Amino acid sequence: MKSPADFYKPLAIGAPAPLRELPVKAERMIHFFAPHNAKMVAKIPDLVPQVDVLLGNLEDAIPAEAKETARRGFIEVARVVDFGETGLWTRVNCLNSPWVLDDITEIVSQIGNKLDVMMLPKVEGPWDIHYLDQILAQLEARYDVNQPILIHAILETAQGVKNVEAIATASPRMHGMSLGPADLAASRRMKTTRVGGGHPFYGVLEDKKDGQDRTLFQQDLWHYTVAKMVDACVSSGLKPFYGPFGDFSDEAACEAQFRNAFLLGCVGAWTLYPPQIGIAKRVFSPDVNEVRFAKRILEAMPDGTGAAMIDGKMQDDATWKQAKVIVDLARLVAIRDPLLKEGYGF
Ligand code: GLV
Ligand code: MG
Repeated sequence: MKSPADFYKPLAIGAPAPLRELPVKAERMIHFFAPHNAKMVAKIPDLVPQVDVLLGNLEDAIPAEAKETARRGFIEVARVVDFGETGLWTRVNCLNSPWVLDDITEIVSQIGNKLDVMMLPKVEGPWDIHYLDQILAQLEARYDVNQPILIHAILETAQGVKNVEAIATASPRMHGMSLGPADLAASRRMKTTRVGGGHPFYGVLEDKKDGQDRTLFQQDLWHYTVAKMVDACVSSGLKPFYGPFGDFSDEAACEAQFRNAFLLGCVGAWTLYPPQIGIAKRVFSPDVNEVRFAKRILEAMPDGTGAAMIDGKMQDDATWKQAKVIVDLARLVAIRDPLLKEGYGF
């Protein structure tokens, strides 16, 4: 393990110093676009004000013959579009692919000062983060990038899940992690053919009742992994996200999956087609009534200690801390969303 004194030293002479705290931003959805698809690229300027993060995808779902066009398309979009406060991310190809070295070098050398976060797929352990960390520092130094580009890991292999805590603490460049349920299902040899969501056979059968039909209560396939990822991320100051939900015909199931992730501690999810943007906004923005109640808790206990009764409910230091999480998030969301700002009463 690296000496604690060296942890925040730049990995290349002339590279920007690693951040000690993540930028404070609402990142309720990471909206994916395919940069080789001209129709999709033409819609980017309209999408910028609607989403918190736009991500140019270079990895899975981009055909092998379009990988280079996608990379060039992403660089061009980054050059010409004004992203304002909206985050600009890319998902590069995985580290054993023939495209990743050019993905990293061309993107950082040409638009390194516009890119906020590089998403790295199929991360197996801290060694993958160390590799990207080092090469990013070298390129930042070489091409005068003045803010460190952050790394977001996809948790989508059994090995990655096993090593999740070491991945979280591998570098001060770590931004967070997303659950990748499709690759993770394949890696674990789960018997499913889906991109996220539940499965009708994964459940608990209620006890026998004489002669009566018994109900199978469906369970969340992703509960264990999301909870493990949330603990690894939050204990290291990183942000956890749910990844993709592939059944575009079932918005209710998408919303339920996003909501489980939100309640367990995730701050956002991927959105793969426009109707999922509204779902992510609904789920990952705190509820108006909950925020108003949380504000009353903070007002009733200005220094966060002691006890108070509000509407017959006991409040103490622990509920004050929960209320603060909700109100802090609401303030971030209010910056991007005037309607919710009014609802929250800021
Ligand atoms: C995402 O990349 C996934 O594999 O689910
Ligand atoms: Mg994947």
